[in-house]
Order: sequence, then structure tokens, then C-alpha cells
Amino acid sequence: MATGRKKLLWAALSLVLVFAAYLAFNNWQLIPQPFITYGGKGSIADTSVAGTQYRQYCAGCHGNDMKTFVNHEWKFGKTRAAVFKAIKYGYPETGMPAYDVTFSDKETYNLTDYLLKGIAITAAAAPVEAAKGPGVFQTDLLKIKIDTVARVGNIPWCVAFLPGGDLLVTERGGDLYKVSADRKLQKINGVPRVVAKGQGGLLDVLPHPGFSSNQLIYLSYSKPENGNSSYSTTAVMLAKLDGNTLKEQRDIFVAKPYSSTQHHYGGRMVFDKSGYLFISVGERGNEKQNPQTLTNDLGKIHRIKEDGSIPEDNPFISDKTASPSIYCYGNRNPQGLTAHPVTGAIWENEHGPMGGDEINLIEAGKNYGWPVITYGINYNGTPITDKTSMPGMEQPLHFWVPSIAPSGLAFVQGDKYKGWEGNILSGSLKFRWLSRCKTDSNIVSAEESMLKEIGRMRDVRVAPDGYIYITIEDPGYVLKLLPLY
Ligand code: HEC
Repeated sequence: MATGRKKLLWAALSLVLVFAAYLAFNNWQLIPQPFITYGGKGSIADTSVAGTQYRQYCAGCHGNDMKTFVNHEWKFGKTRAAVFKAIKYGYPETGMPAYDVTFSDKETYNLTDYLLKGIAITAAAAPVEAAKGPGVFQTDLLKIKIDTVARVGNIPWCVAFLPGGDLLVTERGGDLYKVSADRKLQKINGVPRVVAKGQGGLLDVLPHPGFSSNQLIYLSYSKPENGNSSYSTTAVMLAKLDGNTLKEQRDIFVAKPYSSTQHHYGGRMVFDKSGYLFISVGERGNEKQNPQTLTNDLGKIHRIKEDGSIPEDNPFISDKTASPSIYCYGNRNPQGLTAHPVTGAIWENEHGPMGGDEINLIEAGKNYGWPVITYGINYNGTPITDKTSMPGMEQPLHFWVPSIAPSGLAFVQGDKYKGWEGNILSGSLKFRWLSRCKTDSNIVSAEESMLKEIGRMRDVRVAPDGYIYITIEDPGYVLKLLPLY
């Protein structure tokens, strides 16, 4: 039967066409590749165009495995149209870049579908896995056992040490905790009201060097402007810790101006040997206006006295247009600040854009170059500048391409960890590891990435007794590193 055969032929042809359309939609893969492997490995088999684009452009902030989207409170909508819009135009106030110059609309739709499919697979395949707590890690020189000190909220931003063995831990959402030597968690009352949006919230906590006699602590946080939380800035509160309550609270530093963006607060603090307080403030996502001008406080490291007053010998004190607390400028988003145990010098790490995270030696009056020089490029793949160096601008001691998204910074002190003495440690939010850099005077000569996949590392500190503590996120843990010999 001629008509019957024709029908069959048409049916076969449409089947082939439908299959071809499916393949094209699926970036010519027969079987959709699982782009996620579980157990915290984050390794990805997928080589599709959208998958490659996701890993190149998005994973740095949103993670390879898309877990950050799974239990996510969607701000702008989870529909195909809303996700397309988010990628194409971005939300600059939040720190979400625009990709209209990077991708065609077709590519953006493919990426949207890839993302939505990936989120669905991640959500179905595994409950959001707890960060790796206890365990043993082999590193180049040492075997390290992870000791779980405390389970604290979601983002334990900072851990600090009190004389007597208690710890203070900030949770970015706005809570401060004391972890007693017997590892009980107690909430501290009297913390400031914070803007816990985007990267903002309760940030660092730092005991006064004379805490045992004065019980003073410093808290850095994202402060709302006159109770209006659409504008915020990095501020430092000084308070007395009386039992589990803060008293006599007062702000001793408020970076100006307030900004409507919700990222790049900086917020780390450290005392130097002479008793000056250093505070890092990020450029609030406004690199064109802030880091290279001395008339405002953003994109700078500041130096103040313990009571908030300005040291007479600050570098820009005689420039009447400059903000007097500025110690150095041209910084992007500093996330680690520490004093060298021998030289006393202040070392810093900061987030670059896509590539170009840095470790810097912080010196009075210096310009660290952002955004005039950088080893990074824009998130959308376009160049920021063709310059990596300029006269009058400081070179980093070390930089990372690709970015590791550094957090926390500490020198290994004492002899608890054989072979690591004097090395500098940076956490990595993005790669979920601890970076250990060997330093010979001011040269970083070697680097090892350790404790791989332990979790998004938010802070790393060395306690007065020489033990290394880290915090990891989602869920939040304070962990202690025990060397096994
Ligand atoms: C520099 C960091 C960064 C990069 C790179 C980045 N994002 Fe985002 N993205 C954010 C932030 C911050 C938000 C704001 C929402 C939030 O806080 O989770 C966001 C929001 C989003 C949203 C909206 C979520 C919602 O709640 O409605 C989508 C969708 C999204 N990003 C997808 C992508 C994709 C796809 C890429 C890569 C092309 C990408 N992002 C690259 C930081 C980033």
C-alpha cells in the first residue's frame, strides 16, 4: 500500500527530526551528561557549550555543583524568563554581573536551561550535603585530623580567641556566639543591628589586646543608614563583654559614604604591634568611583587608635581633602588581614574580579592599583585594563589566576605543625580548600592547596597556643586542625 508506506516514511522522518531537535537542544549529546558528582567532589564530566560557559563564568560565585541554588530563596524568580533576565542584564546592586556582551540571546537561553536542569538534578539527586566535618586529610608534609569544635549557623564569618580558651564566633546573619572551652555554644546579647543582605551582615570580631583586664571587643558589621536598610556601610562597634552581654556599645568607625550595593564590605580587623587597629573596607562594587580617590573610605585599609581616634602620623593626614583614617588605597575587597609574627608587618588578601586575587604587604600611603592595574578581567570576560603594573602602584606578593576567592589569613606560629612554620594560610571559598604559601622574607615561593573539598572556607586563624582553626559554611562549622604524628 503506497499511502501506508508514505505515512510510515513521514512518521520515521519526523521521528528523526524530533531526535535531531532534541540533540541540538542538548548540545548534541545523546545522553544528558551528569554534570555533578556528589560527595562534595564537585567534579564535572559535562563538556557541553553551556556547561563550559557555566564553569568559566558562573561557578566562581555560584559553585560547580549549583548547590547554592538548591535551597535558595529566589529573589528575582525561578522562571525561564526571570533567569534569562538575571543572566543578560545582571543585578549590579547585588553583585550579579550582566552578560549581555558575553552571550547571544540564544546562548543565554541555553545557559538558562542548563542552569534550571542542573538545579533540578542536584535537588533530586542529593539532599544538600553537610559540609565535611571530621575526617583525616593527607597533605604534602602532614596528616591532619579535623576536630569539630562547634556547629554554628550557616556562615561563621570569623573566629577569635579569648584568654582562658573561650572562642568568639560571628554568624553573618547577625549573631555573636561564645564557645566555651568545654565547647558549649552561648549567644551574646547586644550585638548591633546589621544589614544581612548579599555579602553583608555581622563580620569580624576582635578582642582588645588587653581584653583580660578591660573585656573590650571590636565588631565589624554592615550598618544600615539611619535605620534605612537600603543603604549600608562597613562600621566597627566597640563594646564591653560582660558575661554574655555587650555593654557600653559605640561605633568608633563608620566608613563613608553609605552605599546601596550589597557586596565588597571588607570588614577584617587586626591590631599591629604598636596597638593601632587596621580595618579593611571594600569598594562596594563601585570601582570607578571609590578605590582611587582619597576623599572617601571605600576600597581602602584604615588605621585608627583603639578608641577610634586618628593617629597623628597617618599618611594622608596633611591632605585636607583626604579621609584621615586612610592608611592605603586602591584595594578591591580585602577579606584577610594579619600581622606578621616576626616583622609585625600587616599582610592582606583580597578578592580580584575574574582572576587576580592577591596577597599584599600593606604599607603606609601605598596605592594597590585597583582598578588601574590588575591580573584579573571582568566577570563577563571583557578586559578591565591592559595593565598589570604601573609606576607608583604596588605589585601583589602573590596572585591567583583563576581566583580562589580567598578568606581569612593567618601565619602559622609555633612548632605544632612541622614544616609549616612561618607559612601563610588563606582559606578558599570557591575551591573549598586551605592554601598554604611558603614565604621567604616577602616572597611567596611555593603553594600547596590542602584539605580539598572540606567546605567553603570562610575564615582561618591561628590560636595563641599555635593551633589552626578554620570555619566552613553551609552548614557552619568551627574546626580545629590536629596534626597526626
Ligand atoms: C561575581 C559573582 C557572580 C557571578 C560571576 C555570577 N553570579 Fe549570579 N548572582 C550573584 C549574586 C550575588 C546574586 C544575587 C542573588 C543572591 O544573593 O543569591 C546572583 C543572582 C543570580 C540569579 C538570580 C537568583 C535569584 O535569586 O533570583 C541567577 C539566575 C544567577 N545569578 C545566575 C548566574 C549565572 C548563570 C552566571 C554565569 C553566567 C552567574 N550568575 C554569575 C553573583 C554572581
